[in-house]
Amino acid sequence: MKVNGTPTRTIWVEEDGWTVRIIDQTRLPHDFVTVPLTTMDDAATAIRDMLVRGAPLIGATAAYGMCLAMRADPSDANLDAAYAALYATRPTAVNLRWALDDLRAILRNTRPDERAVSAYRRTADICDDDVAICSAIGDHGRAVIEEIWQEDKGSRGRVNVLTHCNAGWLATVDWGTAIAPIYKAHDAGIPVHVWVDETRPRNQGASLTAWELREHGVPHTVIVDNVGGHLMQHGEVDLCIVGTDRTTAGGDVCNKIGTYLKALAAHDNGVPFYVALPGPTIDWTITDGLKDVPIEQRDAGEVTRMTGRTDDGRIETVTLTPQGSPAANYAFDVTPARLVTGLITERGIAPASEGGLRGLYPEAP
Ligand code: MRU
Repeated sequence: MKVNGTPTRTIWVEEDGWTVRIIDQTRLPHDFVTVPLTTMDDAATAIRDMLVRGAPLIGATAAYGMCLAMRADPSDANLDAAYAALYATRPTAVNLRWALDDLRAILRNTRPDERAVSAYRRTADICDDDVAICSAIGDHGRAVIEEIWQEDKGSRGRVNVLTHCNAGWLATVDWGTAIAPIYKAHDAGIPVHVWVDETRPRNQGASLTAWELREHGVPHTVIVDNVGGHLMQHGEVDLCIVGTDRTTAGGDVCNKIGTYLKALAAHDNGVPFYVALPGPTIDWTITDGLKDVPIEQRDAGEVTRMTGRTDDGRIETVTLTPQGSPAANYAFDVTPARLVTGLITERGIAPASEGGLRGLYPEAP
C-alpha cells in the first residue's frame, strides 16, 4: 500500500542485497520510522518486542531472521540455533512455525556455502506469495461486501464493517487479510465504513488500523472495545471481518483477545461474522482450538500503562492502575467454528469446518 504516495511493503531487502528493513510499528501512528535488521537477534527482537506483528508478517520476519543467521554462519548448528531462537519469540501465530519449518527443510538439503543465497531467494518468494494471497483474499471478501451493498443499496447509504485488532497491510507483507476486502471494496467505489475496535491493551486498532485506513482514505470510526455489541443491536454493523493467528483444521479461530466476544454478539444479532486468513495460518495438526492453541500471556505492564502523544507532541507513558494492583494480559482468545459465518481464504470462502477447509485445501496433510 502507499505511504505518503510511495508504494511500501512492511518488510523488504535493501539495495545492498542483504540488510532487511522493517517499519517500526511501535512508533505508529505518531511517527513513520523504518529500522534495519542486520542480525538474527535483530529479527527475533523485532518480533518479540512487536516492532513487527500480525501472523503473516511474523512469519516473513522469522524467515528473514533465518537468512541473516545463514549469512553470519551457515553451519548446521547455527541453523538449529536460529530456528530455536526465532521459534521462541511468540507462541500463538502459527505462521511463525510454518515459515521456520519451510526454511529449515530447504536449508538442510542445501550445502552450507549456498544456504544464505537459498534462504534469501525462498524468503523473497514467501513475501511475494503473501502479497498475492492477501490480494486474492481481498477479491473474495470484496464480493461479500458488494453483495451486502447490492442488497441494501439506498437503505443505509454505506456498508458498515466492524473489525478488531489490526489485520491490515501492516500485519502482512502487503494488502492485509481482514482489511484487504475493505480496500478492494473501497477502491471499487462501494461506500464502506469501518468500525475500528481500539483493541486494548496494545491498541492495534486505534494505532494501526486507523492509521492505515486514514492513509488510504477509507471512512472509519474508532470505538472502544465494548461498543460493538451495542452497535450490532441497533443495526449499525452489516458484517464483521477479523483476522486470525491460528485456525484449527476444524475451523476454530484464534485471534486477538476480545474477538470471541464480538463473535458472540454477532451471533446473537444475526450479523455475519467472517474471518480472513491465508493458507499458512491453518494449523492442520490440531482440531480443538480451546485445548490446543497456546495463548500468549504478555507483560502486565501493557495493561497497567498506556503510551500516547501529549498535546505538545511528546510521547509519554502513564500508569492507569493503583500501585500494586495485579493485572493479567492474555493476548488472544479462541472463537469456536460454530460462531463463524465463513473463512475467507485466497482460494475462496469456506464454511468453518474441517470439510469446508479440506475442500479448499485437498493437499493438506
Ligand atoms: O499481537 P498481534 O498484533 O501480533 O496480533 C495480531 C492479530 O491478532 C491479527 O488480527 C492476526 O495476526 C491476523 S493478521 C493478518
